[in-house]
Amino acid sequence: MTEFRGRDIVSIADFSRQELDYILKTTDGIEDLAKRKPDLIRGKTCAILFFEPSTRTRLSFQAAVQRLGGFVLDMSEPRTSSIEKGENLTDTIRVVQNYADVIVLRHPLEGSARLAAEVADVPIINAGSGAEEHPTQAMLDLYTIMREMGSIDGLKVALLGDLRYGRTVHSLASALSLYDVKLYLVSPETLRMRREFVELARQRIEVQEFESLEPILKDIDVLYVTRIQKERFADPAEYAKLKGYYKITAETVRKMKPNAIIMHPLPKVDEVAPEVDLMPQARYFKQVYYGLLTRMALLALVLGAL
Ligand code: NCD
Repeated sequence: MTEFRGRDIVSIADFSRQELDYILKTTDGIEDLAKRKPDLIRGKTCAILFFEPSTRTRLSFQAAVQRLGGFVLDMSEPRTSSIEKGENLTDTIRVVQNYADVIVLRHPLEGSARLAAEVADVPIINAGSGAEEHPTQAMLDLYTIMREMGSIDGLKVALLGDLRYGRTVHSLASALSLYDVKLYLVSPETLRMRREFVELARQRIEVQEFESLEPILKDIDVLYVTRIQKERFADPAEYAKLKGYYKITAETVRKMKPNAIIMHPLPKVDEVAPEVDLMPQARYFKQVYYGLLTRMALLALVLGAL
């Protein structure tokens, strides 16, 4: 069996289908296990180093550590730390690893998690590296699809919105390409997914790109909506043009298959109308809960508690 103890989680590309399936299986059993053994990672410390804003990712890692009986060291205010004094990421990691058994890192630079993993002796979990990747989000997205649809194979999945700057969709497209999935990428022309991620997925599965959701709306099983990533635009005028480009309303949902589901990594801004939240197809709040379970499983695995 694959060894997860001590392993970094930097990119989805580092994982095989067999390994992702093992993570899904572990996630399935983690709730019961944590009830029976609430001290699964007792004595272990998880440092949370966030150099970018976050609500759910930070809180869900904190909650996951607590549910497994571990300690959290939270450094989410880089402005009050040595980073303000000019310390580089390498030094920060070299220091923090003395206090922690695992480091969860979110950083605005692409490649930051890879760099941290090369420097650190403890496992690094990438909780978002700029516009590049967000692998634990992709794992919880896979888990959500499996729980809500019964399986991932055989589905038609549409990723909608900011596919250029959205890191969650980069990781998710890589992850889905390991399954028997038809992938539809729906975005404005200027926010198409970068070629490297599209080509990677295309080597394994059928991928089609669209500007409008309309031609595929009736066919898809999963609609994964994303926010236009305002903070990544160099030009505010460019963002203003694309803001509100897609809007999922009750009308949109009524045109979908009755058993199709809508997911979103959150936060959502204006791309989903509030009335959709109450429709049975909307699964994004369940997705948040599955995220907690997935992160519990990942922490238990990399800390060697299973
Ligand atoms: C996402 C992120 O940070 O990339 N949020 C998250 O982790 N759930 C999505 C986003 O910010 O739009």
